[in-house]
Amino acid sequence: MESNGSRKPLPRLLVYFGRYRGRALAALAMMAAVSALTVVFLFLVNKLIDDALGAGASGTLTGFGKSPRAAAPLIAWLQRGYAAMRSAADHAGLPARLAVPLLLLATLVAKNVCSYFSEFALNGIGIAMVRDLRNDAYRQLLRKSARFYSQASTGDLLSRMLSDVEQIQSAFGTRLADFAQGVLTILLVLVYAFSLNPGLAFGVFVIAPIVLLPIVDNTRRLGKAAFSSRERIGGIGALLSETLRGHRVIKTYGVEEFEADRFAEANDRYFRVTRRTIRLQALNSPLMEVLAGIGLVGLFAYAGGQIEQGRMTVGGLVSFLAAIMMLYKPLKDVTKTNMALQIALSSARRIFELVDSETEIADKPDAVDLGAFSRAIRYEDVSFRYGDDWVLRNLDLTIRRGETVAIVGPSGAGKTTLVNLLPRLYDPTEGRITLDGVDLKDATLASLRRQIGIVTQDTILFDTSARENVAYGRPDAPEEAVRAAAAAAFADEFVDRLPEGYETRVGEDAGRLSGGQKQRLAIARALYKDAPILILDEATSQLDSESEALVSRALANLMEGRTTLVIAHRLSTVRRADRILVLDRGRLAESGTHAELLTRNGLYRRLHDMQFFVEKDEAAEARP
Ligand SMILES: Nc1ncnc2c1ncn2[C@@H]1O[C@H](COP(=O)(O)OP(=O)(O)O)[C@@H](O)[C@H]1O
Ligand SMILES: [Mg+2]
Repeated sequence: MESNGSRKPLPRLLVYFGRYRGRALAALAMMAAVSALTVVFLFLVNKLIDDALGAGASGTLTGFGKSPRAAAPLIAWLQRGYAAMRSAADHAGLPARLAVPLLLLATLVAKNVCSYFSEFALNGIGIAMVRDLRNDAYRQLLRKSARFYSQASTGDLLSRMLSDVEQIQSAFGTRLADFAQGVLTILLVLVYAFSLNPGLAFGVFVIAPIVLLPIVDNTRRLGKAAFSSRERIGGIGALLSETLRGHRVIKTYGVEEFEADRFAEANDRYFRVTRRTIRLQALNSPLMEVLAGIGLVGLFAYAGGQIEQGRMTVGGLVSFLAAIMMLYKPLKDVTKTNMALQIALSSARRIFELVDSETEIADKPDAVDLGAFSRAIRYEDVSFRYGDDWVLRNLDLTIRRGETVAIVGPSGAGKTTLVNLLPRLYDPTEGRITLDGVDLKDATLASLRRQIGIVTQDTILFDTSARENVAYGRPDAPEEAVRAAAAAAFADEFVDRLPEGYETRVGEDAGRLSGGQKQRLAIARALYKDAPILILDEATSQLDSESEALVSRALANLMEGRTTLVIAHRLSTVRRADRILVLDRGRLAESGTHAELLTRNGLYRRLHDMQFFVEKDEAAEARP
């Protein structure tokens, strides 16, 4: 399963996402609000300390030092809003120590309300995308050829349709939400931090990462050392297993000393690498603490100076530190996104691979509609193979309208394959099949398959009601028509006795129906479809003789007036056929009527004499 489209999954996923862009924009607006409210929250922390708790320079409402002119636009704007709120609180007689915490609480609540809506909206897009994608994939799946189904692994299909699709949901729901929210918050909080105190922000966000580089470097070297340490222990393992396998050689060559040296050398290499790992590990946390200490000392020294010079307040410093902490989660979320996206893309690739895989049997662009079957089906020099071995060879065959043609032959002769070519479950590898002179490959699949009813040996019923199984695919079928089909298939009396009659679910509990009953429902289904061409593939071979009798009568009703291809073991069926085809290892060995073939002394005669055919239901045969 490979195709060009599946290598470019992102644009195709975006098409699915794009259907919900209105909702995505709404979610984005909500996220912007969340980030903005985070900044308002940080600003109020500042005010809580300076203004409400009175740590700020007395008499200054600004809290940003003695020169409010220097305040950045963002701060000035927040300041104006805050001043308005404060004076409103003053009018209401609410002191700052109550008003500011209440404002903080209101901000917190508003922020979380927005966060609720944005998360709900984006995750909603994720599941909607998954629903659409899964529907599309299933639609494509239904169009795959019989060959696809016989080769596909159920586990693989399930994992593509279920867990791969799920991965996309999480990437385009949760992860995308976290990413967008993270980016917005990082940007706004950085703007706030730089507005609050550019020097301090520069120190923390530009200089500090440089100071912390040694830690990054140490961690990287630690990873490398740990890796080669694992490699070395692998080397020791290899030596050991060699010794175990080769101990006899070692002994007879008397090379114990040599091997011991070799081992000691490998062991020593492991020792050295591991010692390096331990050293780097031991260095990590002290290094971190010392460097963090240096950073903090620098920060407080600088901040202290700023506060002393009246460029910043204590509240400003606390708010700044809070801003740094607020960055932790968004940064983590943003860095996780790439991984999630990669996983989602590889899942998407697997789904699109499935969707795009060749549908080998499909309508040609100029396919014609077959009219009602009126003259003949013709196999013209048809050969077929599934893989390397030919299963059918150079078959020529004409079946006229109204004929009943029996196909007999040893198991594996190719009988099922022969009839499967008619509804185009497979196409002939060579040669062609025509219906009323039209090559099946030039006809639409729908107009071809509409004309064919099939009853096979293993009955497939769906997990729905008896009525829905009979009128399969036609939910608004009239009750009488369903009953008539069931009656002709001798299914009505047992269906009526089911707990809920025709509304009883039959598929979910296979044990509720006997093999013969299931088969009669399948026959009712074919009767209801009322197709002019009928394929019966050993429809009675799995049944005991009692149910076989009823099923045979049902089949007789079904065959009435139709063109039938019947693969059978029952002598009665075979004998009644207008013509019998004897298939042997993919070739048409003989054909003719029962009497003709018996006199010919060929394969048919041999099968007949070996009692290949069963004839235990002569009683049923005696009936019309
Ligand atoms: N889906 C398939 N893939 C590969 N080989 C198959 C498939 N179906 C049938 N065959 C092989 O084709 C041959 C004919 O099978 P089939 O038409 O089922 O024979 P019959 O119905 O006469 O018993 C057998 O050798 C069988 O193993
Ligand atoms: Mg078969």
